[in-house]
Amino acid sequence: MRWLIISFIVTILFSCVKSPRRHRPIVDSLYYSETHRPQFHFSPPAQWMNDPNGLVYYEGEYHLFYQYNPYGPTWAHMCWGHAVSKDLLHWEHLPVALEEYTDPATGDSTMIFSGTVVVDKNNSSGLCDGKDCLVAIYTSNVHKDSREVVQHQSLAYSNDNGRTWERYSKNPILDIQRKDFRDPKVFWYEPQQRWIMALVIPDLCKVRFYKSTNLLDWTQASEFGGIGDTTRIWECPDLYELPIENKPGKSKWVLSLSGSHPQGPTFVGMQYFVGAFDGTTFTPDDPRQPPRYVDYGKDFYAGIVFNNFPKEDNRTIMFGWVNNWTYGNRLPTAPWRGAMSIPRELSLKEMDGGIRLIQRPIKAIRLLRSYEIIDLSENWNSELEIEMEFDPTNSTEAGIKILKNGKEETLVGYNSKTQEVFIDRTHAGNAGVIKDFDSIERVRAKPVDGKIKFHLFIDQSIVEVFVNDGEQILTEQVFPTHKKSSLSTYSDNGRTAFRVLAWKMRSIWR
Ligand code: FRU
Repeated sequence: MRWLIISFIVTILFSCVKSPRRHRPIVDSLYYSETHRPQFHFSPPAQWMNDPNGLVYYEGEYHLFYQYNPYGPTWAHMCWGHAVSKDLLHWEHLPVALEEYTDPATGDSTMIFSGTVVVDKNNSSGLCDGKDCLVAIYTSNVHKDSREVVQHQSLAYSNDNGRTWERYSKNPILDIQRKDFRDPKVFWYEPQQRWIMALVIPDLCKVRFYKSTNLLDWTQASEFGGIGDTTRIWECPDLYELPIENKPGKSKWVLSLSGSHPQGPTFVGMQYFVGAFDGTTFTPDDPRQPPRYVDYGKDFYAGIVFNNFPKEDNRTIMFGWVNNWTYGNRLPTAPWRGAMSIPRELSLKEMDGGIRLIQRPIKAIRLLRSYEIIDLSENWNSELEIEMEFDPTNSTEAGIKILKNGKEETLVGYNSKTQEVFIDRTHAGNAGVIKDFDSIERVRAKPVDGKIKFHLFIDQSIVEVFVNDGEQILTEQVFPTHKKSSLSTYSDNGRTAFRVLAWKMRSIWR
């Protein structure tokens, strides 16, 4: 028997927040309105995008660089695309920041792989015209001939707020003569007044740490690896200190990196370690601990955090690429391919006998809630934020069916026997996307004060589910064949009362 109690409360916000300034003028009604085009997630106007790169705040602007192929909708010709924002929500597209190039003398061609941007505050590099400037450190992926590839680290700098970039004349700045050696993340380590670089030797599942006082000369500090999930190569490391929410005044370091997926090495995902960092070595709290993953959906990869956040704004914000290498090149979207997650605010919490990563959407996302009153049982544009909670003990399974249209639906639910939250995209539509795309992702979560909480963001082809106030996350792409959809709660083998708040979200592009 199936009971269904729906209580939709479409809220009207009474806050007096002002509408954020738009940075992109209305071009035409077709702008960013293609089928599957996310409306409040960042995506490039056209062509291929993968990892976020060089996330940095500088002089009132958040910079988002990203792996970009300006020439086509699949991975190739890696450059750094570029966009800026004043609120982390609305973005202004800028020209390509760092372009692929060919050395006229040798004919070697170099793609710009993932990396970092730092604010060189005291002109430690000597490359700034004034007292500070932006410095990018990226992996130069050099094709020496059609077969031989070398990866080393190079530097470029900008004295005009990232609008134009000059490559350092003595590149590379770090070369260990290896084919795979990449994805430098550089940050300023205040206690020892020096720069730290974390990067990977992907095939050995190792993170190397280097140190420098001038961003140009680097010496190895330590090496970490061989633990956690090593079933797939490691990529895109990041190291940052986070407060422990339920231990006031206490913090720990987190080393996050991309590699294997909780469902095994056929797919890619992100894992993290919690521990201590003393300026030289990262020491995990428990080296034997089973792997912990950042996101249990199939579509969150290469996440990194911002550098140089204003001191008074003590947040750590991460963007990840909403995609999976296993099928990324074949997504049914055009003329663009690839999107970024909602910016996530990170912290730590002591729970279940350990310290866990907590991720929440940035608070400012509320500014995108609209004031319209809508009936969610009717077909509506598929751009919604939903907060819901329920007691899961009265049913075997309960949750919400979203993106419903005809036979299509995506399920976000909780199975009280297995104590798992899941997202089921096997009936999402996905119009023949690709083999292995239809799937169900699961993660364990326990009720908190008797309730399971979902905070959902539905954006045409992206669903992000924050469970229990950020304790677990599942990010998934879905490709319904309809642009409009309805939704309803469901409860199997018992009655469930749901408390649901839902908002239609405004587009960041119009
Ligand atoms: C991760 C990655 C990085 C590399 C970049 C190339 O997705 O493979 O390791 O720098 O993408 O585009």
